[in-house]
Amino acid sequence: TTVRRADYSAPAFWIDTVALTFDLDPAKTRVLNKMTLRRNPEVPAQALRLDGDELNLARVLINGAGCSFKMDGNQLVLENLPQEGAFELEIFTTCAPIKNTKLMGLYVSNDSFFTQCEAEGFRRITYFMDRPDVMASYSVTLRADKAKYPVLLSNGNLVEQGDLEDGRHFARWVDPHKKPCYLFALVAGKLVAREQRIVARNGKEHLLQVYVRPGDMDKTEHAMQSLINSVIWDEARFGLPLDLERFMIVATSDFNMGAMENKGLNIFNTKYVLANQATATDVDFANIESVVGHEYFHNWTGNRITCRDWFQLSLKEGLTVFRDQEFSMDLCAEPSARAVKRIEDVRVLRTAQFPEDAGPMAHPVRPDSYIEINNFYTVTIYEKGAEVVRMMQTLVGRSGFAKGMALYFERFDGQAVTCDDFAQAVADANPDSALAKLLPQFKRWYSQAGTPRLQARGDYNAAERTYTLSFSQSCPATPGQDNKEPFVIPVQLGLVGASGAALPLHIQSDLASVGDSHLLVLTQASESITFENVNEEPVPSILRGFSAPVILDFDYTDAQLLTLLAHDHDPFNRWEAGQRLALRSAIQSIVDSPDGIRAKGLNHAYVEAMRAVLRHPTLDAAFKELVLTLPSETYIAEQLDVVDPQRVHAVREAMREQLARELLADWEWAFETHKANGSYRPDTLSSGRRALAGLALNYLCLAARSSEDTVWPGKAYQRFKDADNMTDRLNALSALVHSGHELAKPALARFHSLFKGEELVLDKWFALQAGCCDRGGQVLPAVRALMKHADFNLKNPNRARSVIFSYCSANPGAFHRGDAAGYVFWSEQVLELDTINPQVAARLARALDRWKKLAEPFKTAAHEALKRVAAKADLSNDVREVISRALAD
Ligand code: ARG
Ligand code: ZN
Repeated sequence: TTVRRADYSAPAFWIDTVALTFDLDPAKTRVLNKMTLRRNPEVPAQALRLDGDELNLARVLINGAGCSFKMDGNQLVLENLPQEGAFELEIFTTCAPIKNTKLMGLYVSNDSFFTQCEAEGFRRITYFMDRPDVMASYSVTLRADKAKYPVLLSNGNLVEQGDLEDGRHFARWVDPHKKPCYLFALVAGKLVAREQRIVARNGKEHLLQVYVRPGDMDKTEHAMQSLINSVIWDEARFGLPLDLERFMIVATSDFNMGAMENKGLNIFNTKYVLANQATATDVDFANIESVVGHEYFHNWTGNRITCRDWFQLSLKEGLTVFRDQEFSMDLCAEPSARAVKRIEDVRVLRTAQFPEDAGPMAHPVRPDSYIEINNFYTVTIYEKGAEVVRMMQTLVGRSGFAKGMALYFERFDGQAVTCDDFAQAVADANPDSALAKLLPQFKRWYSQAGTPRLQARGDYNAAERTYTLSFSQSCPATPGQDNKEPFVIPVQLGLVGASGAALPLHIQSDLASVGDSHLLVLTQASESITFENVNEEPVPSILRGFSAPVILDFDYTDAQLLTLLAHDHDPFNRWEAGQRLALRSAIQSIVDSPDGIRAKGLNHAYVEAMRAVLRHPTLDAAFKELVLTLPSETYIAEQLDVVDPQRVHAVREAMREQLARELLADWEWAFETHKANGSYRPDTLSSGRRALAGLALNYLCLAARSSEDTVWPGKAYQRFKDADNMTDRLNALSALVHSGHELAKPALARFHSLFKGEELVLDKWFALQAGCCDRGGQVLPAVRALMKHADFNLKNPNRARSVIFSYCSANPGAFHRGDAAGYVFWSEQVLELDTINPQVAARLARALDRWKKLAEPFKTAAHEALKRVAAKADLSNDVREVISRALAD
């Protein structure tokens, strides 16, 4: 059934306190839940409805006495409750954590207990008003076998622990903060902790802990350092201190998402905790830093102020992604590294969120309805939501935004609120800002789905020495939203002279220059701006830093883009110019040549420009790596109305081979100059060098493929063997695997035996093979074989993703087969996974989101596969919603 935002009503009861007692047992865990409740006087008197899911109900007592109750579907309904004052409700249930393969609620992983309650998992632990606007004080008693579960954790402070009879023991935890039930957590098992005591600015001492399985202690240093950095950053940038004596992170290898911000007890996918140089790549290190930061920052944006209802999810997620992005940027020592981070974030937005916003699952940052809330933990809520917050910061300035945050906490600390409340606070704290003046219109970013298109045109008047930029904006229809009103679009822009110099900007000839960058705030369907005293025809640098999440159309000439690529002061637009040039050739080739082979390819000027970037004396390696990486197949496909994924793949591969060949000497130079880095540190500067060396090696192996040269594959194998860190090792292995060289086989075998017990490394081993460049259709049979491997386990989300998602979602050239076998595989896996873990299945289901754009025969075949899944009678809500949206017209 569909849940609608417009139907929100306040809860009929408040739950003030919750005392939970768990007798933990994998097969049958007993849960005693004693609550005190009272009626919400603002709501008409009605029955109390408590949510439950897969629970065995044994007993219900009101004020200690038996009472009548009924079941309405999954809800427990209590009708005869006291009219006045508080009453006690006691509910006794059991559940079976060992059978919980959905990984929502209480489950077992590697013989330990974990919970995941967001969004609606708490109802799988006990009957409750499972909604975020019911905030209560929790005390939790955990009882379990002491030998099997020596560590017993829950939210807040440990107030008591001791032994019980029969080898059991207990621990009692009290959370000093009220919280919604989605932030509840418990952990029990054989775990060890890295500990660190820190003293905050105000002199208070805190205990930080990172809990892992005993063998993983040597991979916890980076997570701990990231946590310490997070605590310091939130206090320094936003004045938000740690409000707990103890802050715990626990890692589990069975987890649906990345991590979870449970109050004081964050639970993480091991992927975002465990790292050392032998097992984790630079990207892993960077992800850990940002996810640890993200969950920590939720302590204020999410936990202290939470969401009124799940339609407001972006209130906490968009804001917290924005905060973790800023955190990672602020930790960069060099300004150029900030730009690299921004480019990476935009790349995610454009390759994942833009397609979502253009497809059947398109939804506003604040959705109006859903069937299954788990389907709305999306790149739109997270990444586009973060862009909306970023635009607010752009409109009020950095210190204005900090003021806005302060007012937000002053007004709403301890409450469950809405996206409107947040936007209003930022605007009210900056009454003279463009945001305050345009707030109702600005909030269309929350209500209207779809990526706006911004069309720009430039006119130079040599006689008048003026340059006029004209803009018009539009936004395509999305499901349920046919017509869109204009957005507030902050456009950061500058003008670049033909020689590459930044031109001073004069908006009125008699006024002084506004500098060389100007923030234009668009509000109309069409409008323009004229710059004066412009002595030469400029090249406009529009949307610097990607100042708004829009698609910018500007009819640049190649020469103009080459100027921006060589000279723009804004690193984002400098990178963007290179991407536009590459995209232009790719699209030209796709249109020109049916098989992608006879295409003209990259023009000489582009190749020379790439050479110049690669050899540039001052640009840093990380930036070069981004510029020299061609737009992804997914991003190229998004630019086309009809997509033949095979053609896209062939064209992009041909472009890569051309770059490999024509820049051969430059790649050799790049590899030789960047291959050695001294002792390993995952900082941005040395990561950038490794990334560039890795890209160079990849191109060199690709070039070797067509020339039958064996030197570079040999060198790659050597580097693979000798590398002292996972980044270099995996890059070398991947160069061999992707180029299809025969040394890939022994290298893969060696890699596997080297890392036998390392789950996260084996995930990489699986993912590399499933994501391998397809030459003659070998990838699908390889994927099927990998699923029979002794180390494969469909029930483990990381492992399932490493094989199935790496193939279906991340390897379009191999997945979209002319014989439809990729889609058949997809439908089998969606159906199979749905019986185990609907959330994971629904994510996989989205691999065919964009099927309507496919060329034949792909389109019809994809349609068949979707219908095959839809035909199954007992699909989960999760998968049903995704599939029926995909099939809707
Ligand atoms: N709040 C978590 C985060 O973004 C995500 C948890 C979502 N889990 C889920 N099962 N939907 O950090
Ligand atoms: Zn989050």
